[in-house]
Amino acid sequence: MKHLLSIADLAPEEITSILDTAVSMHEVQDRQVKKLPTLRGRTVINFFFEDSTRTRASFEIAGKWMSADTINLTGKGTSVSKGESLRDTVLTIDAMGVDMMIIRHPASGAPAQIADWVDCSIVNAGDGTHEHPSQALLDAYTLRRSLGELEGRHVAIVGDLTHSRVLRSNLLCLRALGAHVTLVAPPTLMPSGVHAWAAADGFDVSYDLDEVLPQVDAVMMLRVQRERMSGGYFPTAKEYAVTYGLTPRRLGLLQDHAVICHPGPMNRGLEISADAADAARSLVLDQVSAGVAVRMSILYHLLAGEGDAQ
Ligand code: CP
Repeated sequence: MKHLLSIADLAPEEITSILDTAVSMHEVQDRQVKKLPTLRGRTVINFFFEDSTRTRASFEIAGKWMSADTINLTGKGTSVSKGESLRDTVLTIDAMGVDMMIIRHPASGAPAQIADWVDCSIVNAGDGTHEHPSQALLDAYTLRRSLGELEGRHVAIVGDLTHSRVLRSNLLCLRALGAHVTLVAPPTLMPSGVHAWAAADGFDVSYDLDEVLPQVDAVMMLRVQRERMSGGYFPTAKEYAVTYGLTPRRLGLLQDHAVICHPGPMNRGLEISADAADAARSLVLDQVSAGVAVRMSILYHLLAGEGDAQ
C-alpha cells in the first residue's frame, strides 16, 4: 500500500489490518515516554490547504511518536499564496526527498491528482466533499472498541450528507466491515441520486430520525457545513435542530447500549445537543484519542517495512 486516497482502494482485510495495528499503537498513548523508533529517518509533510484541528494535530503527533521528522505547511505562508500552482508546489516539496505528504484540500480529487505527480506516498486528509479515509478508519476503530465486531451492527449516519466527505468514507468502511447503514437527512441535504446509490451499495435511506434511532447500535451525527452552503437548505437553525438534531428528547429513543459519534467539529445546539455530546454514551473524545492511534497505524502501513512495529 503506497497511498491512502480512498476507502474504496482498501480490501476489507486491509481495513481490519489497519484497525488491528492501531490497537497496539493505542497503548503508546498511556506510556510516559511516547516514542517508537519505527519511522526514524523518514520525513512526513502535513500540507493543509484547509483548516483543521483534529486531523492535522493527530497526524503530527502520530508522526512524532513514531520518530518521523514531521513538518506542517499550509496554503497561506507558502508560495501558493504568491500564485505558484499546486503542481509546482508539491513537485518542489517532493524534490526535497520527503517520504510522505498528508494533504487536506478543498478540491475533491486533489490528493489523487497529487499522487499522480509525485514519487512520495500521499494520504488524503480530507478532500472537498469527496472522502476523509483516516476519519472513517478511526470511527470504525472507535465503534469496534465499544460494540465489538461491526458485522451486522446498525449505524445511522445523520445530518448534512450532501456536503460530507466523512459520510462517503464511512459508508464505504462500515459496509466493508459488514455493518448495516441507514442515512438520515432532510431531503435538501440528502446526496442526489441517493436511492439508486442505496440500491446498488446496500444501505437504507430515511427522512425520519425518530423512527430510525430506536433501531440502531450507533448514531453518527454529522456537522451542518454552513461554509459549504450557498443557499437555504433548511428554514432556520432552530427548525433543523428540532427535526434532525440529536436533542435531549431523542436521547431517550436510543437503545441502552447504543453509542453516539461525531467526527467534529460540533455545532452544539444544531445537529447535536450538549446533553448528547457530553452523554456517557458519547464517543466523541474516544474518536479523538483513536485518531492518533489509527493515524500511527496508517503511517506504519504506508511507510514501515514488515516487522518494524515496536
Ligand atoms: N474531523 C475532522 O476532520 O476534524 P478537523 O477538521 O478538525 O481535522
